[in-house]
Amino acid sequence: MQLLTAILVVFLYTSCVQREVESEKVVHLHWYMHDTPFNGPNASSIPVTGYNASDFQNELAHFLRGQIYLFDDPLTQGPSLTSTPFGRSQGTYSYVSRDELVSYVSYTVSIRSGKYNGSSLNILGVNPESKIIKEYSIVGGTGKFRRATGNLEEEIINIFGPFNFSATLSEWATIYLPEDRDTIVKKAASKSLVE
Ligand SMILES: *[C@@H]1O[C@H](CO)[C@@H](O)[C@H](O)[C@H]1NC(C)=O
Ligand SMILES: *[C@@H]1O[C@H](CO)[C@@H](O)[C@H](O)[C@H]1NC(C)=O
Ligand SMILES: *[C@@H]1O[C@H](CO)[C@@H](O)[C@H](O)[C@H]1NC(C)=O
Ligand SMILES: *[C@@H]1O[C@H](CO)[C@@H](O)[C@H](O)[C@H]1NC(C)=O
Repeated sequence: MQLLTAILVVFLYTSCVQREVESEKVVHLHWYMHDTPFNGPNASSIPVTGYNASDFQNELAHFLRGQIYLFDDPLTQGPSLTSTPFGRSQGTYSYVSRDELVSYVSYTVSIRSGKYNGSSLNILGVNPESKIIKEYSIVGGTGKFRRATGNLEEEIINIFGPFNFSATLSEWATIYLPEDRDTIVKKAASKSLVE
């Protein structure tokens, strides 16, 4: 009897899990982000607190801890800043770590071209700067990305520096979308007729 219950529980559990996976849609998007800090009037990223240019080396020795930046970076479809626009990334990063160069990142990707024009994704996570591929969580979205979850992977592919630098980052998003409620209800109804 206990064995039967256990089998039933496992069966119910796996069928629930399968349904959950079946009712999601996956979207892959790729774009390039251009970040230009410090560069006078053209800076896309600016320090708002904790930044002391004349003491930068000392701050670097303390992992820039306490520095907070606001950014509004252009996104493009190709690696060049002058290639077809994709949208904008707007948000903040702040240096938080006591013993390594790590920033905490939170921003919104607003898409302004193609199929998802007008929709947005919200990104969150820490950026260990020594890591080649960074990974952030996609914690939500708007428009066609309502109730989205997923992951964003990021790699710096080009950097002109070291001061007044400009960096190009390649970003790949894997987005999981819940199906709309009506489709889920219809699927569940047709399933229960078969089972
Ligand atoms: C960066 O550019 C700004 C504005 O053009 C300039 O004032 C500043 O001295 C530059 N910083 C460095 C470290 O070159
Ligand atoms: C800012 O951008 C404009 C237009 O792209 C360019 O002409 C100018 O040289 C840039 N200024 C700086 C300080 O980079
Ligand atoms: C910036 O650093 C310099 C050099 O250490 C120091 O003299 C100055 O007081 C610092 N400025 C601020 C606002 O902390
Ligand atoms: C994106 O949508 C906006 C608002 O509907 C529209 O004005 C704009 O032309 C669209 N952009 C592209 C590249 O399709």
